[in-house]
Amino acid sequence: MKTTIIGAGPAGLYFAILAKKANPGDAITVYERNKVDDTFGFGVVFSDQTLDNFEAHDAESYEQITRAFAYWDDIEINFKGSRYRIGGNGFCGCSRRTLLLILYERAKSLGVEFHFQHEIDDIEPLARTSDLVVLADGVNSKFRDHYRAHFQPTIDVRPNKFAWMGSTAELDAFTFAFEETEHGVFIAHAYQYEEGGSTWVFETDNDTFERAGLAGLSEEESARVMERIFQRYLGGHRLLTNRSLWRNFPMIRNARWVKGSIVLLGDAKATAHFSIGAGTKLAMEDAISLHDALTRTRTVDEALASFETGRREEVERTQHSADVSLVFFEHLGRFWDFDPVQFAFGVMTRAKAITYDNLHLRAPEFVAEVDRHFAEDVASQGFPVDTAGPKPPMFQPFRLREMALANRVVVSPMCMYSAKEGVPGDWHLVHYGARAIGGAGLLFTEMTDISAEGRISPGCTGLWNDEQEAAWKRIVDFVHAQSATKICLQIGHAGRKASTQFMWEEDVHPLPEGNWPVISASPLPYLEVSQVPRPITRADMDELVAEFVATTERAVRAGFDMIELHAAHGYLLASFISPLTNHRTDEYGGSLENRLRFPLEVFRRMREAWPAHKPMSVRISATDWADGGLTGDHAVEVATAFAEAGVDLVDVSTGQTVSDARPVFGRMFQTPFSDQIRNEAKVATMCVGNITTADQVNTILAAGRADLVALARPHLMDPNFTLRAAAWYGVDDVACPPQYLAGRDQLLRNTKRDREELEELKRKLKPKSRGDLRDAAERLPHAAE
Ligand SMILES: Cc1cc2nc3c(=O)[nH]c(=O)nc-3n(C[C@H](O)[C@H](O)[C@H](O)COP(=O)(O)OP(=O)(O)OC[C@H]3O[C@@H](n4cnc5c(N)ncnc54)[C@H](O)[C@@H]3O)c2cc1C
Ligand SMILES: Cc1cc2nc3c(=O)[nH]c(=O)nc-3n(C[C@H](O)[C@H](O)[C@H](O)COP(=O)(O)O)c2cc1C
Repeated sequence: MKTTIIGAGPAGLYFAILAKKANPGDAITVYERNKVDDTFGFGVVFSDQTLDNFEAHDAESYEQITRAFAYWDDIEINFKGSRYRIGGNGFCGCSRRTLLLILYERAKSLGVEFHFQHEIDDIEPLARTSDLVVLADGVNSKFRDHYRAHFQPTIDVRPNKFAWMGSTAELDAFTFAFEETEHGVFIAHAYQYEEGGSTWVFETDNDTFERAGLAGLSEEESARVMERIFQRYLGGHRLLTNRSLWRNFPMIRNARWVKGSIVLLGDAKATAHFSIGAGTKLAMEDAISLHDALTRTRTVDEALASFETGRREEVERTQHSADVSLVFFEHLGRFWDFDPVQFAFGVMTRAKAITYDNLHLRAPEFVAEVDRHFAEDVASQGFPVDTAGPKPPMFQPFRLREMALANRVVVSPMCMYSAKEGVPGDWHLVHYGARAIGGAGLLFTEMTDISAEGRISPGCTGLWNDEQEAAWKRIVDFVHAQSATKICLQIGHAGRKASTQFMWEEDVHPLPEGNWPVISASPLPYLEVSQVPRPITRADMDELVAEFVATTERAVRAGFDMIELHAAHGYLLASFISPLTNHRTDEYGGSLENRLRFPLEVFRRMREAWPAHKPMSVRISATDWADGGLTGDHAVEVATAFAEAGVDLVDVSTGQTVSDARPVFGRMFQTPFSDQIRNEAKVATMCVGNITTADQVNTILAAGRADLVALARPHLMDPNFTLRAAAWYGVDDVACPPQYLAGRDQLLRNTKRDREELEELKRKLKPKSRGDLRDAAERLPHAAE
């Protein structure tokens, strides 16, 4: 087999090694435009896990790489004069130049043919005479661009500026330094990669870059500027440059990776932002994956197909982590006023992989300080909480107007489709009652409608008549009598999504019979098969406002602690807010200000009818997940407008506005929107969406990404989510009915033991640390003496 590789970077070299080692008879040729040792960059980073992978695939190069590395366990975060060190991270750094030379020597010794200083301009002749062509030609891959129509690359150029530099300064931790200058904030991501060698990636926003005059400076001059800003970390050492130009990071993705016998590898195929230090790792793991696919299958075609399908998920997962991570650095303004310990916690947990519980395992003192700070903040709001031995954030109280919540866990609103004529019945009493007893701080009702026409389905609850009011009062009274949980009524009108089937039937589809006419901002059906809604007139608006107010007045009489206006998910009010569903040309359409006019009018009128001492929230879809629709930036404006109208809490959901939306699901996938709204609009938020564990709840709260955390589906299966979480953290004073105390006490005892066992197991399962191995190796000769 004849293989041609364009590019002698980590991807090309490592693939050459693995392929030649597996099939020594194959002809493998590498073309590289530069000289053999003519490389840029300073160090690269690998985790213990990545090194395990290298060891398994080529022990020879692994041995050499690990002989030349620097190892660290701590991450250090420097912010406003504070310094936090968090252990247990297990990373090694290696000189990029050394790495490439090791890989080159190894490939050469195996018999790979190299052509350095050989630029490839035309790939067609090589493709004709090779069985496989590997395009490992880097981030600016000209052949990816040549075949743009086929590979369909997307290049998302990030707004921040960054430059890679080096230094002889030594660092004993992966160091993040955030330095404020008269021009703005500069960030250093720095780590040692060998004795007397460290990598420094500097990052700043474009405005700061311009104000600091860096645009007009040479590499050398900008290194001197960075030296001045970061002098206290450099300890008198100089910064070195090597193609250290300030650039914007391109996040590269390709819809296709394979064209015939040509395959993209490494940066040419997909990049990952430097803040997760994964560029070289991704490139080398790509090589492993392509090699594995070739050994698994019989033909090149099969191998390439298998590589593309098998590897994509992992690459996209890493890219997603990088996307989430870079947002932190691009939006520092959101967190700049945070207390340093909360800021540091945010840096650590920015990319979802590191959480409250796993930090607790390896840096318990740090987490204790995070908890202490959180509790002190709560105490400063007048709550008599223990700040010396604080409870985890999820068990800290929270106040909205005069309503005090015992903890931060919320049962998210969930339609039960089980009402008769809008009247909640026994099902609802048991369902809501059980969840209140389960200990959540706040319990939302399902969307409860202002009129029969406003119901999503014939099974939805309503609050427009006396019978419904009495039925809701029975539930509210039970919750108040039997639990410490507060109860919030979610009030809405389904708009163009009314008159549809139950969720477990044909969801969102019209009823098979007995449909009632639907209304919306504009005459646009949700699905092709949906009814065309009637756009409402000003007279309709007056009627609707009166109905919203009447329901509010009934909610007062039923004794609810709080009400929420549903302005999300494409229902009537949401249909006004999104430009995709509001095509009106009157004063209720056009600009966001106009589109918000009717929803805000409804809110204000409800607010007037709702007691001043009780809180109100609004649920919004912070993005439509669709081209031309609402984005997080718009959501900040929407939240600000509602906050000015008197909203106490923004319940941040997303989507469900249009049927062709493309949501990006994942763990805690809506939390970034809550983060943005809370920390830009400066309004309290509740986040929701694929949050399934108490660990995640604490991570979100401790990082200041929301004030309350709602869980929907987890509460369907486990009404006692909060009581179980309390047992996990050893919190023994969550309200529990006396009838259940014996069970609660047993749960506390068993969970304490289970947690200790699990943590012990996790400690044992931790990947072997090269730092420990090396320390052990260094101790050996002494032991022999
Ligand atoms: C200035 C700079 C500094 C960096 N520093 C670091 C760092 O310190 N740590 C880190 O982890 N990552 C660093 N990176 C990122 C890292 O280099 C990449 O993620 C990684 O090298 C990707 O490997 P690759 O093999 O896909 O591509 P590359 O390493 O970019 O290799 C591609 C190779 O293809 C060659 N080539 C391209 N076109 C042709 C052609 N037509 N004919 C012949 N040869 C061609 C190029 O000369 C290059 O050598 C840095 C990147 C840059 C640009
Ligand atoms: C069965 C069910 C019914 C729902 N009904 C409502 C509702 O009435 N009002 C509402 O705003 N959201 C409703 N939602 C959305 C949830 O409140 C929540 O935002 C969503 O399920 C994501 O949270 P989760 O991942 O914790 O389930 C419902 C969700 C489910 C699963």
